[in-house]
Amino acid sequence: MTASLIEAKGVAKVLGSGAGKVAALKGVTLSLDGGELTLLMGPSGSGKTTLLSILGCMLTPTEGTIRICGRSTAGAEPEDLALLRRQHVGFVFQSFHLFPTLSATDNVRLALDVRGERFRKAKVRAREALAKVGLAHKTKAFPRQLSGGEQQRVAIARAIVGNPSIILADEPTAALDGENGRAIMEILGGIAREQRRAVLIVTHDPRLLPFADRIVHIEDGRIVREERYGVKQS
Ligand SMILES: Nc1ncnc2c1ncn2[C@@H]1O[C@H](COP(=O)(O)OP(=O)(O)O)[C@@H](O)[C@H]1O
Ligand SMILES: [Mg+2]
Repeated sequence: MTASLIEAKGVAKVLGSGAGKVAALKGVTLSLDGGELTLLMGPSGSGKTTLLSILGCMLTPTEGTIRICGRSTAGAEPEDLALLRRQHVGFVFQSFHLFPTLSATDNVRLALDVRGERFRKAKVRAREALAKVGLAHKTKAFPRQLSGGEQQRVAIARAIVGNPSIILADEPTAALDGENGRAIMEILGGIAREQRRAVLIVTHDPRLLPFADRIVHIEDGRIVREERYGVKQS
């Protein structure tokens, strides 16, 4: 049995203030293991993005605890959380979030600069990460010269270049057509299974079901059901 890379226990989150207060999460317990691609599915407003943000230490829970690679985040200062996030978590977003004035290599390399990597070494690692997502031939291209699917692959390269053990993706295929969406899921599945990372993907697209090892369903801030699926390899 593998130890969980990320664990949420009894996590509740209240968002907003005054009359606009919303209980976005109401006691969520969830662990993710290396080697698995998990889908987090649920209707709009059910708390998916909030849960992803808390798991990735972008938001702190109102109640409950998070452990990342065995380290509890309880009482951690914002700088400690930022460090934990940089060391262990890679993010992928629906809208790619690339810098339009930087090449693919520089967009990826930027994720390493914050760790004080030397320029040339960082560039080599960025190119290696781009090669892993099938973009060895596009390292000098700017985002506007790339298709949506290619831009999302650059974003995945940026998420994995620092070698994080956890990848969190919020609707990464929502802006893509079916074929590009499948290609992105295959890359993320490969990252989970071959590199033994924990990959969690938020989606409400049922077409992604066959790519999952595990599916977690969330409704109204609570996990209501879980199933194992598809392609699990032991
Ligand atoms: N900053 C905020 N202030 C108040 N309520 C919010 C805020 N962000 C999200 N919410 C509410 O929290 C609930 C969960 O939101 P979210 O996690 O974004 O859902 P999902 O990603 O599943 O669509 C929703 O009811 C949403 O309206
Ligand atoms: Mg969302």
